[in-house]
Amino acid sequence: MVEKIQQVAQEIEAAQLTNAAELEQFRIAYIGRKGRIADLFDGLKQVAPEERRQVGQELNTLKNKAQEKFDQAQEQITNAAADERTTTAFDYSLPTVPNTLGTRHPLSIVRNEVIRIFGRIGFNVAEGPEIEDDWHNFSALNFPENHPAREMQDTFFLSQNKDKLLRTHTSTVQVRLMETQKPPLRSIMPGRVYRNEAISARAHMVFHQFEGLYIDKNVSFADLKQTLYYFAKEMFGQDTKIRFRPSFFPFTEPSAEIDITCMICKGEGCNICKGSGWVEIGGSGMVDPNVLASSGIDPEVYSGFAFGMGIERITMLKYQIKDLRLFTENDVRFLRQFENVM
Ligand code: PHE
Repeated sequence: MVEKIQQVAQEIEAAQLTNAAELEQFRIAYIGRKGRIADLFDGLKQVAPEERRQVGQELNTLKNKAQEKFDQAQEQITNAAADERTTTAFDYSLPTVPNTLGTRHPLSIVRNEVIRIFGRIGFNVAEGPEIEDDWHNFSALNFPENHPAREMQDTFFLSQNKDKLLRTHTSTVQVRLMETQKPPLRSIMPGRVYRNEAISARAHMVFHQFEGLYIDKNVSFADLKQTLYYFAKEMFGQDTKIRFRPSFFPFTEPSAEIDITCMICKGEGCNICKGSGWVEIGGSGMVDPNVLASSGIDPEVYSGFAFGMGIERITMLKYQIKDLRLFTENDVRFLRQFENVM
């Protein structure tokens, strides 16, 4: 019996366990319920009673050794398999999956540029809600009761009594500023506005404006002109010309529409500017004393100017985009063209 145990011990010692098949063979031959060690345990009955304890201990040692060898080999084999998976199945020299970054929308590019240009002459940025009330969109801005903008055809109303609406211009934010802050005020107010219009190459029911407001003592129309000359040259280039055309807005007096030389034909005359060489980019004027007063600013002490321009219009002129609908179609072929523009 003791000899048999030694022989099996030597066999176990010598066994080469290098792969899963050898490992399984080893398990069946030695550790399994019908294996050599189990056989030896069966033979224990024939051992003389006084030796049985001793032999039994040796058998247990043998059994533990076999199990230990098995466990170690198993661990090595599974680790090697895992290593192989990582070294052969993954090629570190392959190029990475291309990481396509998004691009800034042209309207955001222009809005940011507007903010930077006016920031350099001391204008800060203010914002207001897109859902407005009659007061901020119309009444505080001196719109008469029967003004066409107050009609269903022009404005999206959100309540039957017409007191909740989608703002039709960013001039609402002027009112909010004048109501809550004390002069001097010097702000740019960019944002989305809504008008009940059929969508075409030239018009949309959702678009963007930025409003400018400057209120202080002794602000004159000359300040307004100079500010907009500066803006036009910074935005469109130093040889851009600007002109003011007399106009009317309920909230400014006097009022003027702002034209710049047509970027497409450089003033020669083309179909975009309808042959005139000039294109309109917005409205402006001196803030009406009624508007100052209704927002709590004393028109005897303060004066100011305001202007409002369309961001789509400026973007179309700057980048020669001929159809307004391109801005909302999300066609990546269009959007990617602005990849390297900040
Ligand atoms: N709110 C006017 C518009 O939407 C533009 C404007 C703003 C005119 C400020 C004068 C002063 O057409």
